[in-house]
Amino acid sequence: SKSDFGLIGLAVMGQNLVLNVESRGFQVSVYNRTSAVTDGFVAAHPGKKLVGCDTLESFVQSLARPRKIQIMVKAGAPVDQVIEQLVPLLDKDDIVIDGGNSLYTDTERRDAYMTSKGLRFIGAGVSGGEEGARKGPAIMPGGPLSTWEVMKPIFESIAAKVDGQPCVIHIGPGGAGHYVKMIHNGIEYGDMQLICEAYSLFKAAGFSTDEMAAIFNAWNEGELQSYLIQITGKALEQKDPETGQPLVELILDKAGQKGTGQWTLLNAAENAVVISTINAAVEARVLSSQKKQRVAASTQLQGPAPALDKVKKELVAKVHDALYASKVISYTQGFDLIKTMGEKKNWGLDFGGIASIWRGGCIIRARFLNRITDAYRGNPALANLMLDPFFKDLLNRTQQSWREVVALAVSNGIPVPAFSASLAYYDSYRSGRLSANLLQAQRDFFGAHTYERIDKPEGQFFHTDWPEVIG
Ligand code: 6PG
Repeated sequence: SKSDFGLIGLAVMGQNLVLNVESRGFQVSVYNRTSAVTDGFVAAHPGKKLVGCDTLESFVQSLARPRKIQIMVKAGAPVDQVIEQLVPLLDKDDIVIDGGNSLYTDTERRDAYMTSKGLRFIGAGVSGGEEGARKGPAIMPGGPLSTWEVMKPIFESIAAKVDGQPCVIHIGPGGAGHYVKMIHNGIEYGDMQLICEAYSLFKAAGFSTDEMAAIFNAWNEGELQSYLIQITGKALEQKDPETGQPLVELILDKAGQKGTGQWTLLNAAENAVVISTINAAVEARVLSSQKKQRVAASTQLQGPAPALDKVKKELVAKVHDALYASKVISYTQGFDLIKTMGEKKNWGLDFGGIASIWRGGCIIRARFLNRITDAYRGNPALANLMLDPFFKDLLNRTQQSWREVVALAVSNGIPVPAFSASLAYYDSYRSGRLSANLLQAQRDFFGAHTYERIDKPEGQFFHTDWPEVIG
C-alpha cells in the first residue's frame, strides 16, 4: 500500500519526526541523499510501517496522492536543491512541507514558485529538538488555509498536547509560520541569556554549583516553571565522569549560534521595533565567542572586586524577580515585533493562539505562556503586553528587586546585558517625558530638521536660528 507521509532528510530531527508520525498510525516513506543512512535507519526499526527508498523517484511513487512530503534538511541552499529535484516528479496539488529553520523570505519565494507549478507548499517551524520531534514538537505551519486543512490531521496527531490541545495552529499564509518560528528562537535566545545572567550573579555570590542547581530546581516548581529552567537545574547537577567536577564549570564559555537570533534583530531593525532583550542576548553570544580577546583584556581593564557574598541570602528571591520581569519584557518585545509584522503583512495572526501552542513541545515551553494567551484573548487589540493587568501587577511588584539586582551587578562589575536592557526598556516606556527634546534640539541645530513644541499643537514644526559654532 502507498504511504501516508514522506520525509526527506534523515538527520536527528528527521529521524525522530518519522518515528513520531509512524507511531500515530501512519505509514511513512523515507529518503536520504546517502542511501546507506536510509537503509540503516529502516533496519534499526524493524516492524515499523516504514518504507525506505533509495531513489527520489521510488520515494515519490511510494506515496498516496495528494502526496505529503516533509523536507528536513539544512536551511538555505539544500532546501532549494531538494525542491528542484522533487518538482518534476510531483503531480498537481501534491504538498511539500519545509520543516527546517528557513528564513521566512525564502519561504515566501518557495511558496510562490511551488504555487506557479500547481503544487502546494507549507513552511513549518518545528521546535523541540530531538525529544520534541520524537514525542511531540510545537509546529508553526504557514501556507494557504486549504493546504493546512489537508495537513491538519497529521500535524495535530504528532504535535505536543497541553490540556488536550495540540501545540499546532495554522499561523498564517506564506512565510508566517517560519517567521513566528524565527521570533520563537529570538525569544529562546533571550530566555537562555537571562538564565545565564542569574547564574553569573549566583556564582559571583559564592553559591556552589549544586546550590545553584537546587535554586533552579525550586524555581521550576513556581512561576518560572519552564523547560529551560528545568534543563538548567539538570545541567548544573551533571558531574564530569572523569574528574567528578560539575560539568558546566568545565565547558568553554564560547557560545555558538546558527543565525535565527541575528535574523530576528535584522527584522526588528527593519520594522523599527525595540527588542533590546533579544538584542542583548545575541550580542552576549557574540562577545562570548571572542574568548581570546576577553582573556587578554581581563588583565588590562579594571573593575571592582565583586563583593556579592554579603548579599547572598537576599539574592535568590531578588534575582528570581529580576529574571521574571526581564522575561516579561523579552516576550513583550517579541510579541510587539510579531504584531507589527503581522499587521504589515496582513497575516491575520492570532497572538493568543501563538502563545498557547508554545506552551508545549517547544524549547520556550512554560506555564507563564497561559498568561499571554489570556492577555490577548481578553484584549485582542492590546498595544503592549506590559499593560495587561496581570503583567502590569507583576512588573509593579518586581521592579524594585529588579533594579536592585541590576544595580548590584553594575557595582560589582558583573555583566547583565539582558537584565539591564530589559529594565531600560521598562523605564523608557513608562517615562512620560524622555530626553529626546534635547535630541531634537541637536538635530535642528546641525541639520535644520525642525521640532515640535509641548506648548503648541502637534504637527506644527519649528526651526530655530541657533548660534553659529566655530571650530
Ligand atoms: C528549537 C530550536 C532549534 C534551533 C536552535 C537554535 O526550537 O527546537 O530553536 O530549532 O536550531 O535551538 O540554534 P542556535 O542556538 O544554534 O542558533
